Amino acid sequence: MEKFYVTTPIYYPSGKFHIGTAYTTILADTLKKYKQLRGYDSYMLTGLDEHGQKIETVALNNGKTPQEYVDEMAKQSKELWAKMNINYDYFIRTTELRHEKAVQKIFEYFLQKGDIYKGSYEGLYCMPCESYFTETQLVDGKCPDCGREVKLMKEEAYFFNMKKYTDKLLKYYEENPDFIQPEFRKTEMINNFIKPGLEDLCVTRTSFDWGIKVLSDPKHVIYVWLDALTNYLTALGYMSDDDTLFKKYWPADVQILGKDIARFHLIYWPIFLMALDLPLPKKILVHNWIMMKDGKMSKSKGNVVYPEKLIDRYGLDATRYFLLREMSVTQDGLYSPEGFIERYNSDLCNDLGNLVNRTISMVNKYFNGQVPEYNGTPNEVDKDLENFTNTQVKKIEKLMDNYDIIMVLQEIWSLISRTNKYIDETRPWELAKIDDKEKLKSSIYHLIENIRKIGIMLLPIMEDTSRNLLKQIGISEGLQKWETLYEYDQLKNIKVIEKGEPLFMRKDIEEELQYLRS
Ligand code: MSP
Repeated sequence: MEKFYVTTPIYYPSGKFHIGTAYTTILADTLKKYKQLRGYDSYMLTGLDEHGQKIETVALNNGKTPQEYVDEMAKQSKELWAKMNINYDYFIRTTELRHEKAVQKIFEYFLQKGDIYKGSYEGLYCMPCESYFTETQLVDGKCPDCGREVKLMKEEAYFFNMKKYTDKLLKYYEENPDFIQPEFRKTEMINNFIKPGLEDLCVTRTSFDWGIKVLSDPKHVIYVWLDALTNYLTALGYMSDDDTLFKKYWPADVQILGKDIARFHLIYWPIFLMALDLPLPKKILVHNWIMMKDGKMSKSKGNVVYPEKLIDRYGLDATRYFLLREMSVTQDGLYSPEGFIERYNSDLCNDLGNLVNRTISMVNKYFNGQVPEYNGTPNEVDKDLENFTNTQVKKIEKLMDNYDIIMVLQEIWSLISRTNKYIDETRPWELAKIDDKEKLKSSIYHLIENIRKIGIMLLPIMEDTSRNLLKQIGISEGLQKWETLYEYDQLKNIKVIEKGEPLFMRKDIEEELQYLRS
């Protein structure tokens, strides 16, 4: 069986997770569920990045020890992922012993190989990002990642010899054009960081305590990014007594992360892997950000949206749909209450919900709930629908394989529209009036077939809604298979439910805007 290993970044538990954080996780979960549906042995990893000065400070501000604080946050995050039906296989915490030991071993290995050396560091440090920058990397004198003030600091420290690997990295980029998606991120890395000259990376700190100690020099704490990035390996048991999962799943098939941490994953991470003599992930997928109308989400602006607010009122699937639908690969997505309600009412209630409801009521009205069987001789209108559907399925499959979920959703919705249009073209109510049984049967058959296909393709994205939809049209699990999507003669002895339940209830716009803005 082919394997599929997908990872999210491990999140900083510095506060409650918002819809931006939720987006990354939903995307990874969707890809995992898709691959599962295609018969892959799939494994998804997520977790928490629990060390570092930032966490130490947040914990103290909350009147807790760092360990107490991260324990509480781990519990909260797991609860959120359960609420969001996230089907991860392992939740790694960087404070777990197995991870800490492996990171220490990796550090010693680099040291002994000469990839890490001792020196002293003076530089411009961004505390929230826990990163040093050179003067040239700053943007308007501020941190290029978060835009905040940087401070001049000096400390004795260990360094990772990045220069040794620069050419190898560039060669790898060149020889593996599919490694980074979208491609312009690679150009960004080359122009902004590699061409100006890659500095050796300072990989230890002495200014605080909350982290993994260097085994051979314990006054040094290992830099949080060296600690964090290796989670993708240690979660599978790399450098532990049992590395069965590592042998099975590494290299990752796709690693997902947001643009703010692209530099760490596109430069340092591949270099660490090269230094460990390990294969690189097959793909690193960098997504943009979910933005608010007034810019970034931030606590100080008071514009942060938490997933619970949407899920509790509109359901998980509407929330997942909205987030996946709004984020393109090359541009930031926009969250607005108006946009959310518009998508809910128009895409989910009108387009999808009505198609299903109208069709179910016609099957009940004209055939007592029994779906007529395929007659094998589609007329022109039916053939046109069949051709369109087959083309869409092919397109959607390709986009799914390319992890392009926003386009997947656009194409599924164009199939939904085309199927709604088919109702108007075939006008089953008129066929019933003139008693054209053959055409009526064919029309209803094609409608149910298309709804089945739409339901299957939506399974990785909106699992509960899709299962409910498939159940309503009487499709058993055996017919909920991706392989059956190209076929048009699968439905035999199918009975729809007597009364369709709306998948989504239309909402009053003003009332909802009030709720969403509160
Ligand atoms: N701890 C590091 C990752 C270490 S991975 C070895 C980290 N954590 S984070 O919690 O700050 O961010 C986690 C992910 O959430 C990142 O991929 C980041 O890009 C993403 N997002 C944070 N805000 C976001 C939006 N507004 N929109 C979309 N994604 C966003 O970085």
